[in-house]
Amino acid sequence: MQRCKRIKELRAAIRVKRHAGQHIVLVPTMGNLHDGHISLVRKAREISDFVVVSIFVNPLQFGENEDLDNYPRTLEEDQAKLQREGASVLFLPDANEMYPDGQQDLTRVSVPKFNAMLCGVSRPVHFDGVTTVVNKLFNIVQPDSAVFGEKDFQQLFLIRKMVKDLSLPVEVVGAPIMREKDGLAMSSRNNYLSDSERNIAPALSRVLQETKERCAGKGKDLELLRQAELQANTVLKEIGFDIDYVQIRDADTLLAPALETKQLVLLAAATLGSTRLIDNMTFSAD
Ligand code: PAF
Repeated sequence: MQRCKRIKELRAAIRVKRHAGQHIVLVPTMGNLHDGHISLVRKAREISDFVVVSIFVNPLQFGENEDLDNYPRTLEEDQAKLQREGASVLFLPDANEMYPDGQQDLTRVSVPKFNAMLCGVSRPVHFDGVTTVVNKLFNIVQPDSAVFGEKDFQQLFLIRKMVKDLSLPVEVVGAPIMREKDGLAMSSRNNYLSDSERNIAPALSRVLQETKERCAGKGKDLELLRQAELQANTVLKEIGFDIDYVQIRDADTLLAPALETKQLVLLAAATLGSTRLIDNMTFSAD
């Protein structure tokens, strides 16, 4: 596995493969790789032999009071895992390489409306930071495909919309959520949970699963969906979560469900102590 810290170096490594007709797949990450990330790399390897993985803790997507400085950084372990999984190139830029003129007056990519709902309400700068860095990574790597996890459902939605709106020549591939044995969606932020919080955390997926079972196939009953959201909210609060939102949306539009909705998504964000967890489940409306 080749390691590149500079954009120039990375482009040179990719150019050779592109000229040889190789399909280029990108897996953008912020490091601290767990089995969820590894599943993205495996999905990428199913698409092509030439897989570029980036590790960059993107300052642009962290708000002022968020965990940028404490975000777990485990480069040695990450490299060993990527080597084992057969990644071809690891791109490891620093902030100066990505944002040489600083962040203040940076050109940004913004997906309006959808960046301000759900997680965007409590994290107002987050999604513009994500779409800006992903767009930049697409420009640097020029991948044919890029793989993202479905755990960040809203992020994946925004990236797909950005790609469509800007006619970017990248196929965006989603990879299913990876869960611990007790159902907790894998996340680097799970490391922040205390032992007692870790015991409570799987209740998030359990309540989502129960809510999904209650609503699956009943998507035309908009009142039932609303009641189910409220009940999930109450139950999670009683268990000890500080709820950001629990909402059922049309999975294709991310808007409120309507009678013509085909696929629904139940999304939740909730905090335990100081750890913010997100999860989602999709199901058919009919
Ligand atoms: O999902 C993530 O890890 C990040 O938001 C991403 C897509 C790598 C952009 O920094």
